Amino acid sequence: MDERRITGQTKIMLLMADPVSHVVGSEAITAFIRAVGHDFVCVPVHVGAQDLTAAIQALRGFRNCVGSGVTIPHKIPVLPLLDELTARARTIGSVNYIRRDQDGKLTGDNVDGAGFVRGATEAGVQLNGLRVLLLGAGGAGRSLAFAFAEAGVAELVISNRDHAKALGLVDAASSAFPQVLVRTGVADATGFDMVVNATSLGMVGGEDGDPIDIATLSAGMVVADIVMKPEKTRLLQAAEARGCRLLFGRQMMDGQLALARAFLGL
Ligand SMILES: NC(=O)c1ccc[n+]([C@@H]2O[C@H](COP(=O)([O-])OP(=O)(O)OC[C@H]3O[C@@H](n4cnc5c(N)ncnc54)[C@H](OP(=O)(O)O)[C@@H]3O)[C@@H](O)[C@H]2O)c1
Repeated sequence: MDERRITGQTKIMLLMADPVSHVVGSEAITAFIRAVGHDFVCVPVHVGAQDLTAAIQALRGFRNCVGSGVTIPHKIPVLPLLDELTARARTIGSVNYIRRDQDGKLTGDNVDGAGFVRGATEAGVQLNGLRVLLLGAGGAGRSLAFAFAEAGVAELVISNRDHAKALGLVDAASSAFPQVLVRTGVADATGFDMVVNATSLGMVGGEDGDPIDIATLSAGMVVADIVMKPEKTRLLQAAEARGCRLLFGRQMMDGQLALARAFLGL
């Protein structure tokens, strides 16, 4: 297949975002789906919050579209605009992939957290039985919390700048997975097997500060940063210097690709 050709036969996936210039996932999913033989392209589209309803309505009528990704700031506002949600998206309360069926019906799923778990497993890290400190309770943090509980972590401690948000997530995750010990805590890695940064700190190279006191990291811990740019954040550099095992944001994104492909039916 000629990778440069986009024709009327090509299956299109949109990726709605605002801003759109930081989006890199479109290239990864295009390469992944093309590699399994589909004539496919994912196109980032700049959709402002005020235009989301119209954009979703237009997607229903775009018959050569298989669906759309959604990212900041649409993951939660898109929920009531869809016809159906997977149980996972309903539990998490946000969507990052929409499938468009041939009749225009739109279904939302969220594979952020499941993608992390898959990426970690592919890198040889099993979450089952680990004591995990999750930094951040925003959109991605929410998805990770449910996926970690589902993966059978021994304990999940959630730390967030806005403590009320951490408390809300603890309540939701413990109701969905009562067998898992979930509580709020401070950003101190002492005693944990794994630390995961799901805040946006680190995106500008660390000048915005570290999400945790790096002196509390120790050799043998797994330290994951879901920030994609830079690839090796200041947190990951510090963790590497202390002998920790690293997981990168890219591994979480790659982990989502196979899940997204299955969901989109490609
Ligand atoms: N690798 C992947 O596949 C992947 C997937 C999704 C997202 N991400 C990345 O994950 C990061 C978070 O995305 P998101 O969608 O969860 O964003 P979000 O919903 O806006 O959440 C941002 C999180 O960062 C915290 N935060 C922001 N500024 C902070 C500061 N100055 N000090 C302390 N905490 C701060 C927020 O705390 P408050 O609640 O207190 O505001 C919140 O927990 C972004 O870098 C995004 O690119 C990566």
